[in-house]
Amino acid sequence: MELLAVSQAPRRTVVVLAAGEGKRMKSATPKVLHPLLGRTLVGHVLAAAAAAEAGTTLVVVGHRAEQVTAHLVEIEPTAVPVLQAEQHGTGHAVRIALEAASEAAGTVVVLNGDVPLLRPATVGALVAAHEQGGVAATVLVAEVADPTGLGRIVRGADGGLDRIVEERDATAGQRALREVNAGVYAFDGALLREALSKLSTDNDQGEEYLTDVFGLLASLGHAVGVHVAADPDETLGCNDRAELASLRALLRDRVNTAWMRAGVSILDPSTTWIDVTVTLEPDAEIDQNTQLIGATAVGAGAIVGPDTTLVDTTVDAGAVVLRTHAIGAQIGPEATVGPFSYLRPGTKLSRKAKVGGFVETKNAELGEGAKVPHLSYVGDAEIGPRSNIGAGTIFANYDGLRKSRTTVGEAAFVGSDTVLVAPAEIGPGAYVAAGSVITGSVPAGALGVSRAPQRHVEGWTARKRPGSASDEAAKRAQAGEQ
Ligand code: UD1
Ligand code: CA
Repeated sequence: MELLAVSQAPRRTVVVLAAGEGKRMKSATPKVLHPLLGRTLVGHVLAAAAAAEAGTTLVVVGHRAEQVTAHLVEIEPTAVPVLQAEQHGTGHAVRIALEAASEAAGTVVVLNGDVPLLRPATVGALVAAHEQGGVAATVLVAEVADPTGLGRIVRGADGGLDRIVEERDATAGQRALREVNAGVYAFDGALLREALSKLSTDNDQGEEYLTDVFGLLASLGHAVGVHVAADPDETLGCNDRAELASLRALLRDRVNTAWMRAGVSILDPSTTWIDVTVTLEPDAEIDQNTQLIGATAVGAGAIVGPDTTLVDTTVDAGAVVLRTHAIGAQIGPEATVGPFSYLRPGTKLSRKAKVGGFVETKNAELGEGAKVPHLSYVGDAEIGPRSNIGAGTIFANYDGLRKSRTTVGEAAFVGSDTVLVAPAEIGPGAYVAAGSVITGSVPAGALGVSRAPQRHVEGWTARKRPGSASDEAAKRAQAGEQ
């Protein structure tokens, strides 16, 4: 009789350690919630951890637990927060996590919450090496130029891992080692549980160190493995804001290089900051000193920058956006924006629409080819296709109590320095005379004009500014006329 071969995907559990305060950040915000090009530190770690394809993801929270938990609900609702009310070390944190998940078996992948440059592929390779090696535990290591502050990898005579020693507990000889613990591990779940129950607090900080599990397992004769990270930058932790800034620069370069390889032109990569959440199409061109943030997307052949910040903004193919600040805007194909434009949420520009210099828009839809070229405020408005809004036009949308809308019909023409007091409606093909204050509506095809008739006070300069340059200029002109 043949036994049925049951192929079963290995069960895995991920544990992310995020309970620490991160004292050296000197911040009211917990360290793992600090942002780094589109995700928080813990957000990056969770994104990398996804490669472990775990059935359960536990996140150990402690310092400002409510804040971290609320963030998890937003970014990774399936992650289970586990409270470590007092932080007695990384070993203590994992022990508490596994106590809360008594069913967790198979491989347990543990990640520090502060290694944001870790790549998903590296986590995948670590887990594969661990499971294929059939070892009790595997640690991700890297050889670094400056190992200050990190746990050192102490290898035995056979080259295998002997133990991990924290810098503050290390001998001078161990401190000279440059191979360090990245804070990313894979364990056999059952052996990990057993080892955690035996951890001591006999170290400089009086904490339960997760890293001691390796020495314990090795001394009990279990095989422990070392997985060397291909790119040591991936293992960099973040302990203070100077380190955060260096991580940000490294991630910027990584993101920019990937986009350039994908066909995007980035004219000055060192001043271009693109969130990991942004998407760009080939032949988009990003000029210097530009930030692309959040859910921003830039289409093929569009030009963005210089000196532009786009937050959650879409720029369609062939659009041009110069020296602009935009939040929650949709910029249609071949539309042009800037220089010095401020697009606020709800701005929607159709094909070939134009928003020019010193124009602010909010909840404003511009139809195809509609133009607001200069010095205007357009709030709560709909502007029909091919309409032109003159320089200095203000859509007065707020009466101190409520906001109202204004619509401008197709191919209408609003003269310069006009105030459209909402609610107002300018009909299709209507004109509004420069300097008008419009309330209510202007019918289709009509000219709306509301301004005082012009009059002249003759000889005013001669009487009120006698002998002035103006008086003399006027007198010369008058003499010439005769
Ligand atoms: C740890 C490692 C060190 C390694 C380094 C890599 C230990 C003992 N040392 O040191 O070998 O080189 O990471 O960056 O593990 N945390 C909790 N609860 C706690 C303590 C910490 O959740 O009680 C969390 C922190 O929020 C952080 C992570 O665990 O995300 C690591 O803690 P941290 O204090 O930064 O450890 P390191 O001293 O950097
Ligand atoms: Ca750390």
